[in-house]
Amino acid sequence: MNQANDGALPPIDDIPEARRDSQASTGEAKSSLPWILTGVGAIAVLSGGWAISQVSLGPIGTAQPMVGIVNTLSLSQTTNDSSDVITATVSDQLVPAQRTLLGHKAYDEAPVSELTALTADGSIRLRTPAAEKFQAMVDAARRQRITLVPLSGFRTQEDQAHLFFDIKAERSQLAVQRAEVSAPPGYSEHHSGYAIDIGDADEPETHLTAEFAETAAFEWLQENANRYGFEMTFEADNDQGVAYEPWHWRFVGDRHSLETFYQE
Ligand code: DAL
Ligand code: ZN
Repeated sequence: MNQANDGALPPIDDIPEARRDSQASTGEAKSSLPWILTGVGAIAVLSGGWAISQVSLGPIGTAQPMVGIVNTLSLSQTTNDSSDVITATVSDQLVPAQRTLLGHKAYDEAPVSELTALTADGSIRLRTPAAEKFQAMVDAARRQRITLVPLSGFRTQEDQAHLFFDIKAERSQLAVQRAEVSAPPGYSEHHSGYAIDIGDADEPETHLTAEFAETAAFEWLQENANRYGFEMTFEADNDQGVAYEPWHWRFVGDRHSLETFYQE
């Protein structure tokens, strides 16, 4: 599953049941970049007599995609009646940091060196801090006779391209329909190494279905996952327009993971 290093396609594809495929589209891409400055010397003309005195471009395509394209923009204004110069910093206010596609936010792939295996065969991996907390969560649940099982963790863009495009073609879906249940490559939380699909080992028929919400494992997660830094991403009727995924949880238990998902 996931990206095996041999390049095999993942057998678990995050495909919800067929009935979910027929859902009317509720998703809508929310991309709204008012300015994108892509090169040195790019200038945004602002109203009110403001003049750009300094433009610093942040890293583009090299760091977490949640980092703003324009990190700092210092403005100066010369008033009519004096030589006073007012300098204002409007860091992170002019350009939304997030790129989205069909309602899904962009994520870089986690470096392989930062992943830790959750399974003996190494096929399911998370970033190490998330893997350690997930294992602690599994142990705690087991003490209450609940068996959490990892179904899918880190995915490469290649994995996600299969899940999005190949399954889309197989099912003759529109892109917007496919995006209700699967992120386009480059836009899945699974790329980050912080997202994991969780099942109940005692009820495998509920894996990757809405029925997982009826299991003891889900009830346990709802009560306890926050203690371990995990939260469910796709609540019912979420703003991203993605279908309800009670099995999909993400780690936000340290600074990097929190910034990955919440920084604007
Ligand atoms: N199923 C979730 C949206 C993903 O593909 O990342
Ligand atoms: Zn998932």
